[in-house]
Amino acid sequence: NWTMVNIADESIEAVRRQVGSKRAICGLSGGVDSAVAAALVQRAIGDQLTCVFVDHGLLRKGEAEQVEKDFVAATGVNLHVVDAQERFLAALDGVADPEQKRKIIGREFIRVFEEAAREVVGEDAAEPVEFLVQGTLYPDVVESGGGTGAANIKSHHNVGGLPDDLQFQLVEPLRTLFKDEVRALGEQLGLPSEIVWRQPFPGPGLGIRIVGAVTKERLDILRDADFIARTELSNAGLDRDIWQFPVVLLADVRSVGVQGDSRTYGHPIVLRPVTSEDAMTADWAKLPYDLLQRISTRITNEVREINRVTVDITSKPPGTIEWE
Ligand code: XMP
Repeated sequence: NWTMVNIADESIEAVRRQVGSKRAICGLSGGVDSAVAAALVQRAIGDQLTCVFVDHGLLRKGEAEQVEKDFVAATGVNLHVVDAQERFLAALDGVADPEQKRKIIGREFIRVFEEAAREVVGEDAAEPVEFLVQGTLYPDVVESGGGTGAANIKSHHNVGGLPDDLQFQLVEPLRTLFKDEVRALGEQLGLPSEIVWRQPFPGPGLGIRIVGAVTKERLDILRDADFIARTELSNAGLDRDIWQFPVVLLADVRSVGVQGDSRTYGHPIVLRPVTSEDAMTADWAKLPYDLLQRISTRITNEVREINRVTVDITSKPPGTIEWE
C-alpha cells in the first residue's frame, strides 16, 4: 500500500534524525504496538537499539516464545530477556484484590525494566542509552490528555509505560497512528501475521483474568483453557471479527459435575468474546453455537480442573471487557 510505504519511510527517517548515533532501548510486551515500534526503530538505527522483554509469567501460551523467536527472526533485533516469573509470583502471593494486583504488577514491571535497562547500559558504559522507544498510539495520546472519569475506573498499566524520572528521551514513532494503521505498518515491515493481528492483551496479562489470588497452578489451568478457546476461534476463521476474547478463571468458585462415573468438583471458566471499535464500549460477541460447543467440550475434556464453561453476555457498559 502506497501510503504505508510513505509512512514507514518517513518515520524511519524521523527516528534516524532524532536518535542520531545514540543508543535506545524498547520494552517489548508481545503486543502489536511495541512490536511495530521496535521493528521500525530497528530499521532506522539497527544495532543501536536493544529490546527488553520482561517475562512476568502472566502471558498466554506461546507468547514468550513468539517474542523470543518469531520477532527476533523477523527483525534481527538485539533482545534482552528477563525471566521474572518467580519474582512476580512472589509479589502477587495471596493478593486477590484487582486494583492491588494491578498496582503490584505495574510496580514490579517498572523495577525489573529499570534493572534490565541498567544491565543493557552496563554492557557498554561509554555509550549510555539515551532514548526509550514506546509504542504509544494516537488514541493513547488523546486518552491520557483527556482526563475523563472513565480513565479512573481501572488503573491501566501499559507494559512498556514507565515513569518520567527514568531520564530517557522518548521515541514514539506511532504517535499519530490508529491501530489499523499500525497493523498495516507492521505488515509493511515484514512482521509475522501472528504478531501483527494479535488481539489486544492487557499489560497485567492473565494476572487480571484469574478472579482470586494468582498462583502458578491457576495460571497453568487458565493458559490451557485460553489456548483451546483461541485455537478454536482461529480455526473457525473468526479472529479478525472479534475484538478480544478474554478467558477468565473463577479460581475461588467450585461447582459439582460428573465425568465418566465420577463426581467432579472443579472451577468454572468464563468466555468473554467481545466486538468493539476502540475498547471504550463493547458488545458481547454472538459466537456461533457450534464453535461454543467445541470450545466447551474441549476445555472440559482436556483441562482436568475445569468442569463448567460459561459465556459472558454483558456489553460494556455496564460490564468492562476484562473482569478485573
Ligand atoms: P476494560 O476492561 O477496561 O478494558 O474494558 C479496555 C481495554 O483495555 C485493556 N486493558 C489494559 N491494557 N493495561 C493495558 O495495556 C491494562 O492495565 C489494561 N487493563 C485493561 C483491555 O484488555 C481492553 O482491551
